[in-house]
Amino acid sequence: MDSQAVHQMEDQLKQEAEQFIRQCYRELGKTMEDTELRIQQVQNEINRDGSYEHTYEELVHGAKMAWRHSNRCIGRLFWNRLQVFDARNLTSEDAIYQALLRHIEFATHGGEIRSAITIFKQTVRNQEPVRLWNHQLLRYAGYEAPDGGVIGDPSSVDFTRICTSLGWRGEGTPFDLLPLVIQCHDRKPRLFELPGEIVKEVPIHHPELDLFSGMEVKWYAVPIISDMRLEIGGISYAAAPFNGWYMGTEIGARNLADKSRYNLLPRVAEAMGLDTSSSGSLWKDRALVELNVAVLHSFRTSKVSIVDHHTAAQQFGVFQKIEEREGRCVTGRWSWLIPPLSPATTDIFHSTYEDRVDSPNYYYQPKPYE
Ligand code: ARG
Repeated sequence: MDSQAVHQMEDQLKQEAEQFIRQCYRELGKTMEDTELRIQQVQNEINRDGSYEHTYEELVHGAKMAWRHSNRCIGRLFWNRLQVFDARNLTSEDAIYQALLRHIEFATHGGEIRSAITIFKQTVRNQEPVRLWNHQLLRYAGYEAPDGGVIGDPSSVDFTRICTSLGWRGEGTPFDLLPLVIQCHDRKPRLFELPGEIVKEVPIHHPELDLFSGMEVKWYAVPIISDMRLEIGGISYAAAPFNGWYMGTEIGARNLADKSRYNLLPRVAEAMGLDTSSSGSLWKDRALVELNVAVLHSFRTSKVSIVDHHTAAQQFGVFQKIEEREGRCVTGRWSWLIPPLSPATTDIFHSTYEDRVDSPNYYYQPKPYE
């Protein structure tokens, strides 16, 4: 990069840093003096090193703001209740693996799920970042069968192939937990098995009906997104896995129901004795409702936190009220905020949202493989 381009980048970084520090420090109730001092310090650091590092306080509040700005998330009422693990100093794959296990255990908490994020080293110029190759820390493998079908989760087929090529061998069941794949900088990615004891899973059963005619269906307790980039004040964290708890429909109306996922509706309808010969019998809708009843019932009886979509939508309404009161405008992406089941029964359906992307935020990033 020529020096002019470097200058331009540093100027932009200074601007983004200043904007973040101002908002962050205002929200944290810091004095003007502290704020100006910190901005000066950050600028000096950028002049000297071409970049800057967040204080622990900035990191914590920045990660929370990023959640608050996540337009696709219906669960943002709880943005200020996020446990932030600062893992920026870890340099080895083994240490990162240990931090991930700690995250899983903290978040799972025997079923009483706690929201958390573990933040690894920030991206620096001229160096490959730390990357977690998994989409979520917990996820089921998908194997292409010779007949063109898939055993397991079809959305994991590519990543499962990568794991296999790196030497992993799955058992071949529809619910094999994938290994963790950790890559530090320009080194080769390394595979780590998840110890079964720390992964909580929930067997899915309907309270009255036999929905799966003998097939064992389950889902893991905690969704921990591990492939998104966290951006705070112009600084990128390419590895920053975070979790909340599930909303029932994510599992019952998408993961287990989508045609391109576990595709269980035909099986459920069959087990319920529904007429699947005409779509007008609403067999898909009826199967979908009972599948979602089963998911909520099962998580509850296993004592694992879960929220139904009506409650989640109500909580989102409370979030909107609070944000308004704070003088902030809630941004959102309507198509993601409405639940996939009975959307028009929620207020969200009847509202509009500006899908503006504020900083800090979480972003998709190119997959490290492919
Ligand atoms: N929809 C994703 C899944 O079903 C998880 C996304 C995050 N969800 C959450 N409740 N925090 O695995």
